[in-house]
Amino acid sequence: MCDDELIPPSADMTEEQWLRADPALAEGPVGERVREMRAPRRRTVLGGVVAGAAALAVLPGGSQAPAAAAARTGKFPLPTGPGRSGEYAVLLTGDAGTGEEAQHAVAAAAREVCRAEGVGLAVGLGDNIYENGPESADDSEFRTKFEEPNAGVDIPWLMVLGNHDCSGLIPGSGGDPSRGDREVAYAKASPRWYMPSRYYNVALPAAREGDPLVEFFAIDTNPVASYVAQLDPHYRWNGPYMREQRRWLDGALKASRARWKIVLGHHPYLNNGKHGSAGSYDGFEIGHYTSGIHLKELYEEVVCGRADLILSGHDHTLQILEPTTRTGGTRQIVCGAAAKSGDGKAHFGHPASWQNFSDHGFMVLKVSERAMTVDAYTVDVATREARLAHSLKAKFSRG
Ligand SMILES: [Fe+2]
Repeated sequence: MCDDELIPPSADMTEEQWLRADPALAEGPVGERVREMRAPRRRTVLGGVVAGAAALAVLPGGSQAPAAAAARTGKFPLPTGPGRSGEYAVLLTGDAGTGEEAQHAVAAAAREVCRAEGVGLAVGLGDNIYENGPESADDSEFRTKFEEPNAGVDIPWLMVLGNHDCSGLIPGSGGDPSRGDREVAYAKASPRWYMPSRYYNVALPAAREGDPLVEFFAIDTNPVASYVAQLDPHYRWNGPYMREQRRWLDGALKASRARWKIVLGHHPYLNNGKHGSAGSYDGFEIGHYTSGIHLKELYEEVVCGRADLILSGHDHTLQILEPTTRTGGTRQIVCGAAAKSGDGKAHFGHPASWQNFSDHGFMVLKVSERAMTVDAYTVDVATREARLAHSLKAKFSRG
Protein backbone atom coordinates (compact mmCIF):
# COMPACT_ATOMS: atom_id res chain seq x y z
CA MET A 1 0.00 0.00 0.00
CA CYS A 2 1.18 3.49 -0.66
CA ASP A 3 -0.13 7.01 -0.80
CA ASP A 4 2.70 9.45 -0.71
CA GLU A 5 1.05 12.78 -1.45
CA LEU A 6 2.94 15.72 0.07
CA ILE A 7 0.68 17.74 2.39
CA PRO A 8 1.60 21.33 3.39
CA PRO A 9 1.82 22.28 7.08
CA SER A 10 -0.76 25.07 6.70
CA ALA A 11 -3.51 26.00 4.29
CA ASP A 12 -2.92 28.33 1.35
CA MET A 13 0.83 28.75 1.73
CA THR A 14 2.85 29.77 -1.27
CA GLU A 15 5.27 27.09 -2.36
CA GLU A 16 8.19 29.23 -1.14
CA GLN A 17 6.54 29.51 2.31
CA TRP A 18 5.98 25.75 2.36
CA LEU A 19 9.65 25.09 1.56
CA ARG A 20 10.79 27.50 4.28
CA ALA A 21 8.41 25.91 6.81
CA ASP A 22 9.60 22.41 5.97
CA PRO A 23 13.39 22.46 5.55
CA ALA A 24 13.51 18.65 5.40
CA LEU A 25 11.45 18.85 2.22
CA ALA A 26 13.91 21.25 0.62
CA GLU A 27 16.86 19.06 1.61
CA GLY A 28 15.32 15.78 0.49
CA PRO A 29 14.79 14.46 -3.03
CA VAL A 30 12.40 17.33 -3.71
CA GLY A 31 15.19 19.83 -3.05
CA GLU A 32 17.19 18.97 -6.14
CA ARG A 33 14.22 19.59 -8.38
CA VAL A 34 13.40 22.80 -6.54
CA ARG A 35 16.94 24.10 -7.11
CA GLU A 36 16.67 23.20 -10.79
CA MET A 37 13.27 24.83 -11.08
CA ARG A 38 13.92 28.05 -9.22
CA ALA A 39 15.56 30.04 -12.01
CA PRO A 40 13.25 28.87 -14.81
CA ARG A 41 10.29 29.26 -12.47
CA ARG A 42 10.37 33.06 -12.76
CA ARG A 43 10.01 32.78 -16.51
CA THR A 44 7.33 30.08 -16.21
CA VAL A 45 5.08 32.25 -14.06
CA LEU A 46 5.27 35.09 -16.55
CA GLY A 47 4.78 32.66 -19.43
CA GLY A 48 1.81 31.17 -17.65
CA VAL A 49 -0.03 34.47 -17.60
CA VAL A 50 0.55 34.95 -21.30
CA ALA A 51 -0.28 31.34 -22.14
CA GLY A 52 -3.45 31.48 -20.07
CA ALA A 53 -4.62 34.66 -21.73
CA ALA A 54 -3.87 33.22 -25.15
CA ALA A 55 -5.77 30.04 -24.37
CA LEU A 56 -8.76 32.07 -23.29
CA ALA A 57 -8.55 34.16 -26.43
CA VAL A 58 -8.97 31.15 -28.69
CA LEU A 59 -11.62 29.55 -26.48
CA PRO A 60 -14.17 32.29 -25.85
CA GLY A 61 -17.08 31.87 -23.47
CA GLY A 62 -19.15 28.79 -24.03
CA SER A 63 -17.47 27.93 -27.31
CA GLN A 64 -15.50 24.87 -26.26
CA ALA A 65 -17.39 22.61 -28.59
CA PRO A 66 -16.58 18.92 -28.31
CA ALA A 67 -13.85 18.15 -30.77
CA ALA A 68 -14.66 15.49 -33.32
CA ALA A 69 -11.90 13.00 -32.70
CA ALA A 70 -13.40 10.64 -35.24
CA ALA A 71 -12.66 13.16 -37.95
CA ARG A 72 -9.02 13.57 -36.97
CA THR A 73 -6.53 11.63 -38.96
CA GLY A 74 -4.70 9.11 -36.87
CA LYS A 75 -6.87 9.38 -33.79
CA PHE A 76 -8.71 6.40 -32.42
CA PRO A 77 -12.33 7.39 -33.07
CA LEU A 78 -15.01 8.06 -30.50
CA PRO A 79 -17.72 5.37 -30.49
CA THR A 80 -20.49 5.98 -33.02
CA GLY A 81 -22.72 3.21 -31.69
CA PRO A 82 -23.04 0.79 -28.78
CA GLY A 83 -20.93 -2.33 -28.44
CA ARG A 84 -21.90 -5.96 -28.85
CA SER A 85 -24.02 -5.94 -25.72
CA GLY A 86 -26.03 -2.92 -26.85
CA GLU A 87 -24.28 -0.74 -24.30
CA TYR A 88 -21.46 1.76 -24.36
CA ALA A 89 -18.71 0.34 -22.17
CA VAL A 90 -16.23 2.82 -20.69
CA LEU A 91 -13.00 2.01 -18.85
CA LEU A 92 -12.46 4.19 -15.76
CA THR A 93 -8.94 4.69 -14.42
CA GLY A 94 -7.32 7.33 -12.26
CA ASP A 95 -3.95 8.37 -10.86
CA ALA A 96 -2.23 6.02 -13.26
CA GLY A 97 0.91 7.78 -14.47
CA THR A 98 3.80 6.31 -12.51
CA GLY A 99 5.30 4.13 -15.24
CA GLU A 100 5.95 1.52 -12.55
CA GLU A 101 5.00 -2.14 -12.34
CA ALA A 102 1.66 -1.56 -10.60
CA GLN A 103 0.50 0.71 -13.44
CA HIS A 104 1.57 -1.87 -16.02
CA ALA A 105 -0.17 -4.66 -14.08
CA VAL A 106 -3.46 -2.75 -13.77
CA ALA A 107 -3.28 -1.72 -17.44
CA ALA A 108 -2.60 -5.31 -18.53
CA ALA A 109 -5.56 -6.57 -16.49
CA ALA A 110 -7.77 -3.76 -17.85
CA ARG A 111 -6.72 -4.59 -21.42
CA GLU A 112 -8.11 -8.12 -21.05
CA VAL A 113 -11.38 -6.85 -19.56
CA CYS A 114 -11.68 -4.21 -22.31
CA ARG A 115 -11.36 -6.92 -24.97
CA ALA A 116 -13.93 -9.14 -23.29
CA GLU A 117 -16.40 -6.34 -22.62
CA GLY A 118 -16.07 -4.46 -25.92
CA VAL A 119 -14.92 -1.26 -24.23
CA GLY A 120 -14.88 1.62 -26.73
CA LEU A 121 -13.84 4.58 -24.59
CA ALA A 122 -11.56 5.15 -21.60
CA VAL A 123 -11.30 7.83 -18.95
CA GLY A 124 -8.11 8.95 -17.18
CA LEU A 125 -9.09 10.85 -14.06
CA GLY A 126 -5.91 12.89 -13.59
CA ASP A 127 -2.42 12.58 -12.16
CA ASN A 128 -1.61 11.31 -15.62
CA ILE A 129 2.14 12.00 -15.36
CA TYR A 130 3.71 11.58 -11.90
CA GLU A 131 5.34 13.19 -10.00
CA ASN A 132 5.68 16.63 -11.57
CA GLY A 133 3.68 16.51 -14.79
CA PRO A 134 5.37 16.64 -18.20
CA GLU A 135 8.30 18.97 -18.77
CA SER A 136 7.19 19.63 -22.35
CA ALA A 137 4.53 18.61 -24.88
CA ASP A 138 6.86 15.90 -26.19
CA ASP A 139 8.25 14.68 -22.86
CA SER A 140 9.22 10.98 -23.05
CA GLU A 141 7.09 10.45 -19.93
CA PHE A 142 4.01 10.51 -22.19
CA ARG A 143 5.41 7.35 -23.76
CA THR A 144 6.62 5.58 -20.60
CA LYS A 145 3.72 6.57 -18.32
CA PHE A 146 0.80 6.47 -20.76
CA GLU A 147 1.33 5.08 -24.27
CA GLU A 148 3.39 2.01 -23.37
CA PRO A 149 1.33 0.82 -20.40
CA ASN A 150 -1.91 1.34 -22.35
CA ALA A 151 -0.77 -0.17 -25.65
CA GLY A 152 -3.57 -2.37 -26.96
CA VAL A 153 -6.29 -0.29 -25.34
CA ASP A 154 -6.65 1.40 -28.71
CA ILE A 155 -9.54 3.72 -28.04
CA PRO A 156 -9.87 7.41 -27.12
CA TRP A 157 -8.91 8.26 -23.53
CA LEU A 158 -10.74 11.26 -22.06
CA MET A 159 -8.04 12.80 -19.86
CA VAL A 160 -8.43 15.36 -17.07
CA LEU A 161 -5.75 17.36 -15.26
CA GLY A 162 -4.67 16.32 -11.74
CA ASN A 163 -2.60 18.13 -9.15
CA HIS A 164 0.56 16.29 -10.18
CA ASP A 165 0.02 17.31 -13.79
CA CYS A 166 0.04 20.93 -12.57
CA SER A 167 2.94 20.76 -10.11
CA GLY A 168 4.87 23.92 -9.38
CA LEU A 169 8.08 23.65 -7.37
CA ILE A 170 6.75 20.85 -5.20
CA PRO A 171 5.49 17.59 -6.75
CA GLY A 172 1.70 17.44 -6.66
CA SER A 173 1.27 20.98 -5.37
CA GLY A 174 -1.09 22.01 -8.17
CA GLY A 175 0.67 25.35 -7.92
CA ASP A 176 1.35 25.86 -11.63
CA PRO A 177 -1.81 25.14 -13.64
CA SER A 178 -0.19 26.49 -16.82
CA ARG A 179 1.81 23.26 -16.98
CA GLY A 180 -1.45 21.50 -17.90
CA ASP A 181 -1.26 23.17 -21.32
CA ARG A 182 1.47 20.66 -22.20
CA GLU A 183 -1.03 17.83 -21.81
CA VAL A 184 -3.50 19.66 -24.07
CA ALA A 185 -0.74 20.11 -26.66
CA TYR A 186 0.21 16.43 -26.41
CA ALA A 187 -3.29 15.42 -27.57
CA LYS A 188 -2.33 16.51 -31.07
CA ALA A 189 0.45 13.92 -31.21
CA SER A 190 -1.20 10.90 -29.58
CA PRO A 191 -3.71 8.54 -31.18
CA ARG A 192 -5.41 7.90 -27.85
CA TRP A 193 -4.84 10.88 -25.50
CA TYR A 194 -8.02 13.04 -25.76
CA MET A 195 -7.79 16.52 -24.24
CA PRO A 196 -8.85 19.16 -26.78
CA SER A 197 -8.67 21.85 -24.10
CA ARG A 198 -8.22 22.07 -20.34
CA TYR A 199 -11.96 21.46 -19.87
CA TYR A 200 -14.30 20.09 -22.50
CA ASN A 201 -17.36 17.98 -23.22
CA VAL A 202 -17.86 14.86 -25.31
CA ALA A 203 -21.23 13.39 -26.31
CA LEU A 204 -21.96 9.83 -27.46
CA PRO A 205 -22.78 8.50 -29.88
CA ALA A 206 -20.35 10.64 -31.82
CA ALA A 207 -21.22 12.09 -35.21
CA ARG A 208 -24.96 11.51 -35.01
CA GLU A 209 -27.92 13.85 -35.22
CA GLY A 210 -30.38 13.94 -32.35
CA ASP A 211 -30.06 13.77 -28.59
CA PRO A 212 -26.97 12.01 -27.28
CA LEU A 213 -27.24 9.06 -24.94
CA VAL A 214 -24.45 10.13 -22.63
CA GLU A 215 -22.37 13.28 -22.31
CA PHE A 216 -19.09 13.69 -20.44
CA PHE A 217 -18.02 17.04 -18.97
CA ALA A 218 -14.31 17.02 -18.15
CA ILE A 219 -13.33 19.80 -15.74
CA ASP A 220 -10.08 21.20 -14.36
CA THR A 221 -10.38 21.21 -10.57
CA ASN A 222 -6.81 22.29 -9.83
CA PRO A 223 -7.13 26.06 -9.36
CA VAL A 224 -9.75 25.48 -6.64
CA ALA A 225 -8.18 22.44 -4.98
CA SER A 226 -4.43 23.06 -5.10
CA TYR A 227 -2.34 22.39 -2.00
CA VAL A 228 -0.91 25.91 -2.30
CA ALA A 229 -2.14 29.40 -3.12
CA GLN A 230 -2.18 30.27 -6.81
CA LEU A 231 0.25 33.06 -7.71
CA ASP A 232 -0.80 33.55 -11.31
CA PRO A 233 -3.82 35.89 -11.25
CA HIS A 234 -5.30 34.07 -14.23
CA TYR A 235 -5.67 30.87 -12.19
CA ARG A 236 -6.71 32.29 -8.81
CA TRP A 237 -9.85 30.77 -7.30
CA ASN A 238 -11.89 33.83 -8.33
CA GLY A 239 -9.84 34.73 -11.41
CA PRO A 240 -10.88 34.75 -15.05
CA TYR A 241 -10.09 31.09 -15.69
CA MET A 242 -12.34 29.68 -12.97
CA ARG A 243 -15.10 32.21 -13.70
CA GLU A 244 -15.04 31.18 -17.34
CA GLN A 245 -14.91 27.47 -16.55
CA ARG A 246 -17.87 27.75 -14.19
CA ARG A 247 -19.87 29.70 -16.79
CA TRP A 248 -19.05 27.09 -19.41
CA LEU A 249 -19.93 24.11 -17.16
CA ASP A 250 -23.19 25.69 -16.04
CA GLY A 251 -24.20 26.43 -19.63
CA ALA A 252 -23.08 23.07 -20.99
CA LEU A 253 -24.94 21.05 -18.34
CA LYS A 254 -28.06 23.16 -18.83
CA ALA A 255 -27.92 22.85 -22.60
CA SER A 256 -27.19 19.12 -22.66
CA ARG A 257 -30.01 16.90 -23.91
CA ALA A 258 -28.14 13.71 -23.07
CA ARG A 259 -29.97 10.95 -21.20
CA TRP A 260 -26.99 10.57 -18.87
CA LYS A 261 -24.61 13.33 -17.77
CA ILE A 262 -21.24 12.53 -16.26
CA VAL A 263 -18.77 15.04 -14.78
CA LEU A 264 -15.09 14.07 -14.73
CA GLY A 265 -12.94 15.96 -12.21
CA HIS A 266 -9.71 14.86 -10.53
CA HIS A 267 -10.62 16.05 -7.02
CA PRO A 268 -13.76 14.40 -5.58
CA TYR A 269 -16.80 16.11 -4.14
CA LEU A 270 -17.38 13.38 -1.55
CA ASN A 271 -14.69 10.94 -0.49
CA ASN A 272 -14.32 8.41 2.32
CA GLY A 273 -10.58 8.06 1.71
CA LYS A 274 -7.82 9.85 3.58
CA HIS A 275 -7.89 13.09 1.57
CA GLY A 276 -11.52 13.67 2.54
CA SER A 277 -14.17 15.69 0.74
CA ALA A 278 -14.18 19.06 -1.01
CA GLY A 279 -14.36 21.87 1.54
CA SER A 280 -12.26 19.95 4.09
CA TYR A 281 -9.54 18.24 2.07
CA ASP A 282 -6.80 16.78 4.27
CA GLY A 283 -8.36 18.35 7.36
CA PHE A 284 -8.01 21.95 6.14
CA GLU A 285 -11.11 24.07 6.61
CA ILE A 286 -9.87 27.62 6.05
CA GLY A 287 -8.64 29.58 3.06
CA HIS A 288 -9.43 29.51 -0.62
CA TYR A 289 -7.29 26.66 -1.96
CA THR A 290 -6.10 23.75 0.18
CA SER A 291 -9.52 22.94 1.64
CA GLY A 292 -11.20 22.89 -1.78
CA ILE A 293 -14.04 25.08 -0.50
CA HIS A 294 -14.65 26.68 -3.88
CA LEU A 295 -14.68 23.30 -5.61
CA LYS A 296 -17.34 22.24 -3.08
CA GLU A 297 -19.34 25.29 -4.12
CA LEU A 298 -18.87 24.48 -7.81
CA TYR A 299 -20.04 20.90 -7.33
CA GLU A 300 -23.00 21.88 -5.15
CA GLU A 301 -24.14 24.91 -7.14
CA VAL A 302 -23.53 23.70 -10.68
CA VAL A 303 -23.21 19.89 -10.77
CA CYS A 304 -25.31 18.28 -8.02
CA GLY A 305 -28.85 17.46 -9.13
CA ARG A 306 -27.90 17.91 -12.78
CA ALA A 307 -25.27 15.26 -13.40
CA ASP A 308 -25.90 11.58 -12.78
CA LEU A 309 -22.30 10.89 -11.85
CA ILE A 310 -19.18 12.67 -10.65
CA LEU A 311 -16.13 10.54 -11.45
CA SER A 312 -12.93 11.46 -9.59
CA GLY A 313 -9.52 10.19 -8.63
CA HIS A 314 -6.97 11.81 -6.28
CA ASP A 315 -7.65 9.30 -3.51
CA HIS A 316 -5.97 6.03 -4.48
CA THR A 317 -9.03 4.01 -3.67
CA LEU A 318 -12.16 2.55 -5.26
CA GLN A 319 -15.47 3.92 -3.98
CA ILE A 320 -19.02 3.77 -5.34
CA LEU A 321 -20.88 6.16 -3.04
CA GLU A 322 -24.63 6.38 -2.73
CA PRO A 323 -26.58 9.33 -4.11
CA THR A 324 -28.26 11.27 -1.30
CA THR A 325 -30.56 14.21 -0.76
CA ARG A 326 -27.45 16.29 -0.13
CA THR A 327 -26.10 15.44 -3.59
CA GLY A 328 -29.43 16.03 -5.32
CA GLY A 329 -29.36 12.45 -6.55
CA THR A 330 -25.91 12.76 -8.10
CA ARG A 331 -23.63 9.81 -7.39
CA GLN A 332 -19.91 10.19 -6.58
CA ILE A 333 -17.49 7.53 -7.72
CA VAL A 334 -13.80 7.61 -6.78
CA CYS A 335 -11.53 5.53 -8.99
CA GLY A 336 -7.89 6.46 -8.37
CA ALA A 337 -6.17 3.13 -7.82
CA ALA A 338 -4.67 2.45 -11.24
CA ALA A 339 -1.07 2.71 -10.01
CA LYS A 340 -1.11 3.43 -6.29
CA SER A 341 -3.28 2.02 -3.51
CA GLY A 342 -4.82 3.40 -0.33
CA ASP A 343 -4.09 2.99 3.36
CA GLY A 344 -6.58 0.20 3.93
CA LYS A 345 -9.29 1.99 5.86
CA ALA A 346 -12.27 4.30 5.55
CA HIS A 347 -11.69 7.74 7.09
CA PHE A 348 -15.23 9.07 6.66
CA GLY A 349 -18.73 7.62 6.56
CA HIS A 350 -20.51 8.80 3.45
CA PRO A 351 -22.99 6.08 2.47
CA ALA A 352 -21.37 3.69 0.02
CA SER A 353 -22.64 0.89 -2.20
CA TRP A 354 -19.15 -0.58 -2.21
CA GLN A 355 -15.67 0.66 -1.40
CA ASN A 356 -12.14 -0.66 -1.22
CA PHE A 357 -9.19 1.14 0.37
CA SER A 358 -6.48 -1.47 -0.11
CA ASP A 359 -6.29 -2.76 -3.64
CA HIS A 360 -5.25 -1.51 -7.03
CA GLY A 361 -7.98 -1.53 -9.61
CA PHE A 362 -10.25 0.09 -12.17
CA MET A 363 -13.92 0.16 -13.12
CA VAL A 364 -16.03 -0.35 -16.23
CA LEU A 365 -19.12 1.81 -16.71
CA LYS A 366 -21.83 0.49 -19.03
CA VAL A 367 -24.41 2.86 -20.40
CA SER A 368 -27.66 2.09 -22.22
CA GLU A 369 -30.97 3.91 -22.63
CA ARG A 370 -32.42 2.12 -19.61
CA ALA A 371 -29.60 1.94 -17.11
CA MET A 372 -26.03 2.56 -16.16
CA THR A 373 -24.05 -0.16 -14.45
CA VAL A 374 -20.65 -0.01 -12.80
CA ASP A 375 -18.32 -2.99 -12.50
CA ALA A 376 -15.44 -2.53 -10.05
CA TYR A 377 -12.34 -4.67 -10.56
CA THR A 378 -9.46 -5.17 -8.16
CA VAL A 379 -6.11 -6.25 -9.58
CA ASP A 380 -3.49 -8.59 -8.17
CA VAL A 381 -0.32 -6.79 -9.22
CA ALA A 382 1.81 -9.94 -8.95
CA THR A 383 -0.32 -11.96 -11.37
CA ARG A 384 -1.69 -9.00 -13.37
CA GLU A 385 -5.16 -10.51 -13.03
CA ALA A 386 -8.40 -8.63 -12.48
CA ARG A 387 -11.16 -9.82 -10.20
CA LEU A 388 -14.72 -8.51 -10.53
CA ALA A 389 -15.19 -7.29 -6.97
CA HIS A 390 -18.55 -5.57 -7.27
CA SER A 391 -21.23 -4.95 -9.88
CA LEU A 392 -23.75 -2.18 -9.37
CA LYS A 393 -26.89 -1.70 -11.37
CA ALA A 394 -27.55 1.75 -10.09
CA LYS A 395 -30.81 3.53 -9.56
CA PHE A 396 -29.75 6.69 -11.34
CA SER A 397 -32.57 9.11 -10.65
CA ARG A 398 -31.85 12.79 -10.40
CA GLY A 399 -33.63 15.52 -8.52
FE1 LIG B 1 -4.14 13.83 -7.04
